[in-house]
Amino acid sequence: MANQPLVVENPATGAPIGEVATYIPDEIPGLVAKADAAQKKWARTPPRERAEVLRACWAAMIAKQDDIAAIITAENGKPLRDALGEVTYAAEFFRWNSEEAVRLDGDVGDLPNGNGRKIVLRQPIGTVLAITPWNFPAAMLTRKLAPALAAGCAVVAKPASPTPMTAVALADIFRGAGLPEGLFHVIPTLDTAGVVNAALAQPPVRKLSFTGSTEVGAKLLEQAAARVVSCAMELGGNAPFIVLGDADVDDAVEVAMIAKLRHNSETCTAANRFYVAESLVDAFTDALVARFEKLVVGDGSDHATDHGPLINRGAVETVSGFVRDAIEHGATEVTGGAALDRPGSFFAPTVLTNVRPDNPILREEIFGPVAPIVAVPDDDDAILALANDCEVGLAGYVCGGEFARALSVSERLEVGMVGLNRGIVSDPATPFGGVKQSGIGREGGHDGVLAFTEPKLIVTAW
Ligand code: SIN
Repeated sequence: MANQPLVVENPATGAPIGEVATYIPDEIPGLVAKADAAQKKWARTPPRERAEVLRACWAAMIAKQDDIAAIITAENGKPLRDALGEVTYAAEFFRWNSEEAVRLDGDVGDLPNGNGRKIVLRQPIGTVLAITPWNFPAAMLTRKLAPALAAGCAVVAKPASPTPMTAVALADIFRGAGLPEGLFHVIPTLDTAGVVNAALAQPPVRKLSFTGSTEVGAKLLEQAAARVVSCAMELGGNAPFIVLGDADVDDAVEVAMIAKLRHNSETCTAANRFYVAESLVDAFTDALVARFEKLVVGDGSDHATDHGPLINRGAVETVSGFVRDAIEHGATEVTGGAALDRPGSFFAPTVLTNVRPDNPILREEIFGPVAPIVAVPDDDDAILALANDCEVGLAGYVCGGEFARALSVSERLEVGMVGLNRGIVSDPATPFGGVKQSGIGREGGHDGVLAFTEPKLIVTAW
């Protein structure tokens, strides 16, 4: 009997838009064996040839950017503008890593005691199991796939169930661009636990690269421990957004609009709790509310749309619950505050004020267009005590006037990435990742490709 297909819905309407073929656990050993055979050959392919295949994948994505963006918007809901931005961001991981593929340098030198010499090579780790989220169906895949391929690895990727169509389309595009058969498999499934268990049990799988929640990441770490599989974890965030007393309010609002709302407010790096100096809090709130009230909320496929639907009705209920609870704990809703009464999964852009530092919403990763604002004294230690009182530390944002002060606050923030007077922290050329329970390892930049290699030491005397 054929496997059941996975039906995909458009979050803007709730209507089905297509289906993809799925895999069951029994199919995984054969598929990993194919990946393993392809990987061994790929690892022997000269780096320059690997680089050229990666570069061709970048060019193929750019050539098809409108088509890919339309699929992202249809299955994820984000506005076309954001979807197009995601495609160029996603493609850039291929261009950047095509340049990394030929610079995987090792090390050679004398041992300190003079009794021998070391040769350190960077060898591919093997076959990678990539588990990717629905919020960036293209970029979170290519952020793993491109460096893994650059390093000489094969990849088996399990896309998130709400958004598998982008990954399936990308696999076709990469095949057309010359990616050798067997190196990259996309495995949508209706049995995530079974398929992931089956993959982790296969000896060639030597790396698990996961982007998703801290809760799921912790469970995967336990599973991976059984075979001591190397793990890279990009997990949850709860980004503080700090406005110091010497910040320019208009600039800070501009930064906030991006840090909060980009990609439908569904990024792990999204500004999640706003700590604003008391002297600026009224001006900042008024300006932010004015901007939120002008946002066009609608179907992402409409070019006029600024903010699309959340991923599904469940997400709307979760965000509604956070807001209700915040209000019960004393917050005031200045604008928005509820789901929109229309088909699909829309939530009104919402600003909450009078949020006390102990309000429960500040502990939640909201993943929706809600900005809770806390008025704070303009004192670095006091602000940092609030911002750092958190078990996750992915991104943070600091808006300030005097550079030395804002830099010092940025350095003391317990996060992996800081946007200093800037609303986007990610770039394919820079290390992306968090501290504390936000994850293990970094993706992107030079660290991104090293994560898919093992240093191999040969000690000798000559
Ligand atoms: C994420 O939400 O994890 C990705 C955000 C980004 O890459 O900008």
